[in-house]
Amino acid sequence: MKTAELRSAFLEYFRQNGHTIVPSSSLVPADDPTLLFTNAGMNQFKDAFLGREDRGYTRAVSSQRCVRAGGKHNDLENVGYTARHHTFFEMLGNFSFGDYFKRKAINFAWTFLTDPQWLGLTAEKLWVTVYQTDEDAYRIWNEEIGVPAERIVRIGDEDGVPYKSDNFWSMGDTGPCGPCSEVFYDHGPDVAGGPPGSEDEDGDRYIEIWNIVFMQFNRTADGVMHDLPSPSVDTGMGLERIAAVLQGVHSNYEIDLFQSLLKSVSEALGGVDPEQASVRVIADHIRSCSFLIADGVMPSNEGRGFVLRRITRRAARHGNKLGATGTFFHKLVQPLEALMGEAYPELTKARPQIEKILKQEEEQFARTLEKGLRLLEDDIAQLSGSEIPGETVFTLYDTYGFPVDLTNDIARERGLTLDLEGYEKAMEAQRERARAASKFGMDYNAGLSLEGETEFTGYGNFEDDGEVRAVLVEGERRAAGVGERAVVVLDRTPFYGESGGQVGDTGVLSWSGGRFEVEDTQKEDGHHLHIGRVVAGTVEPGMTLHAEVNGERRAHTALNHSATHLLHAALRTVLGEHVAQKGSLVNAERLRFDFSHFEAVTAEELERIERMVNEQVRANTAVETRVTDMDTAKTMGAMALFGEKYGDTVRVLSMGTGGFSIELCGGTHVERTGDIGLFRIVTETGISSGVRRIEALTGDAALAHDREQEARLGRIAALVKGAPESAVERVESLVEHNRQLEKEVERLKGKLASAAGSDLADSAVDVNGIKVVAADMQGADRKALMETADQLRNKLGSAVVLLGAAAEGKVTLVAGVTKDLTGQLKAGDLMQAIAPRVGGKGGGRPDMAQGGGSDPEGLPDAIAAVESWVRENSGS
Ligand code: ALA
Repeated sequence: MKTAELRSAFLEYFRQNGHTIVPSSSLVPADDPTLLFTNAGMNQFKDAFLGREDRGYTRAVSSQRCVRAGGKHNDLENVGYTARHHTFFEMLGNFSFGDYFKRKAINFAWTFLTDPQWLGLTAEKLWVTVYQTDEDAYRIWNEEIGVPAERIVRIGDEDGVPYKSDNFWSMGDTGPCGPCSEVFYDHGPDVAGGPPGSEDEDGDRYIEIWNIVFMQFNRTADGVMHDLPSPSVDTGMGLERIAAVLQGVHSNYEIDLFQSLLKSVSEALGGVDPEQASVRVIADHIRSCSFLIADGVMPSNEGRGFVLRRITRRAARHGNKLGATGTFFHKLVQPLEALMGEAYPELTKARPQIEKILKQEEEQFARTLEKGLRLLEDDIAQLSGSEIPGETVFTLYDTYGFPVDLTNDIARERGLTLDLEGYEKAMEAQRERARAASKFGMDYNAGLSLEGETEFTGYGNFEDDGEVRAVLVEGERRAAGVGERAVVVLDRTPFYGESGGQVGDTGVLSWSGGRFEVEDTQKEDGHHLHIGRVVAGTVEPGMTLHAEVNGERRAHTALNHSATHLLHAALRTVLGEHVAQKGSLVNAERLRFDFSHFEAVTAEELERIERMVNEQVRANTAVETRVTDMDTAKTMGAMALFGEKYGDTVRVLSMGTGGFSIELCGGTHVERTGDIGLFRIVTETGISSGVRRIEALTGDAALAHDREQEARLGRIAALVKGAPESAVERVESLVEHNRQLEKEVERLKGKLASAAGSDLADSAVDVNGIKVVAADMQGADRKALMETADQLRNKLGSAVVLLGAAAEGKVTLVAGVTKDLTGQLKAGDLMQAIAPRVGGKGGGRPDMAQGGGSDPEGLPDAIAAVESWVRENSGS
């Protein structure tokens, strides 16, 4: 069976068993920051397993493109050297979201594998494993399917660590997971290796072909396993492996798809022997690189883009080893597309783009590859031991763009190793240099670096004196005169530099005869940058300035910052410990807090959260700050923000009753919670999948907000002539009254139409024996025109009707013809002939047509034209 046929057979078998065929999702996981690349069929169904998403079906089947070259499941190093590791592969999988569980999942798998109508594998060649304690799965395999006990292996936890087992599957450190049962294929005694669980299980004789996961838990970041809403099933079968089994070969590289690709690689390299590791590496890598680019990843020096670059360079290097001169890798996109484009149309679509990007990458790399290799060769030639020095590894990386695994690859071929520790040290020193140079250098373009740090003296003060360390004007270090915009750095300052979500301070720097207005304060490399304009005098290094923060603005900001801490704690109490800060903005006007949570916060929850914060405000406890080391902070239970960097000493901020909120924070805060005065949540919205945003007000701003709301209510009450207390009932009754009136109007319009119909019927004229009515029904809307036309047709029995009305520069037309006449006179034709006279068009059925135009002045003419149209188009 060909690989493509196998893919289709799998989808078809499960489709026949009630599964919805779902297309492969992108290699870039949607909205899942926990995952570098899609690495299993179940990724796109994560939320369905967690019960957070209803996909409209409970059984699904897919063939999913996967990349395992980074993150938890990383196979890059092995690719090319083993029979079965790939950076890119396809995973066939069937899924149940709270529908079937162990029994059906096992039965489906067995039938598909052994039934002659499907794969027809010999039952005796199949082995299975179950999780040590999974009696249910064991019993189903043994008693119901009839797999003898000697071919069922129980696999427990490694090193006694709970759930660390080949038979317990997790997508990553967090998320859905559960015990699993795997099916193995015995390639026969000619191949070395032992059955699963045995000492030589790593051999190639017994190969895992299918993993059936019984999804039961959701593991959260704290390591706790929560039950899923309902037991589910996730399975995965590597397409390349099962194809190898069916095609009677022992290496994935021997299946039809790879044979064809290996041939193309060989041709692209001028006919090299296709049976060598480097050709296999390239054949594997063209698949991951092409699909990654098709899914929008671009080569770069970080994250996903860096993985793509590493794989591309690894392929280029192997090509180089085989004697490639010039670029070759991009030429493999076309043969790959011929093989896989039908199953993955996105590949076909992106082909020109992929070729272009790969070619560029190859060219860019080729420029340095040769030099880098020479350097490496020289180094190796002079080597006394068997370890390549860390400095060399670093230079190759830094100057020649050799990813470390590439250097490692080359070393491995020579039986050498790398001094990774030395490399890390060199890397760190580089980072240090970059840090020192970057901020001033990049942002202010001065190549300026300053020793030391600014001392921040503003926790208790709004004022202080400081000496000028540096002045920057348009990236140049020089004195700043009147009218000039500049950045001033002092040795000490009470100005808070923007960080931790809190905005930077504004205020004034003054000296005798001079003044600098600070519009913002930023923090770079420990220095506070006062950004603003000189309004009097000249400022230059060495001067002593008096720095004064805009105290009112800072005080308002403090209310919002402290309230943010209380809000964070209240959110975790009311919604749960999964709430983690995702972003925060604190300024003098309001606070904005983004946090992880998977659904909208209900009105009732919001009320509880708001009440809880206000209780803490009223308790009016002192806000306590303690500067300590990280370990002590942790014992205090302080919340640290993931992704934030903390120094050796940290500031721990505690506020509220009984340690209500304990956070690491460098910001400025109120003295007592009561200073906040009042806390009001104004909006709660979703900003991305799993992230919510709350905006809130404090103090005066909260009060002003309430007063505004009250004023609005007062205006409504006045409008409905009631007291604010009864305004709701008054509005309700007004709405109801309005509904009644609308109904009444409808009824009256109908009545009017029928009255008008009667009148108009009398005005019918006879044209060639046909009754014709054409009239301007001033002020009527389309509905009234239609109703009247209907009535006229009923009343006259046999007639041609055209009604029009003009309002606000627009003309509405309706034409009707009784059924007996539609053989010769069609309403649609009439409309087409008439509508142009009002500057428009129209059409419709033979018995009823509508139209309109923008020229009301043409209406009398249009109406007059009906008679002659009937005359011309009827009988004689
Ligand atoms: N998600 C399971 C795996 O990747 C089926 O093995």
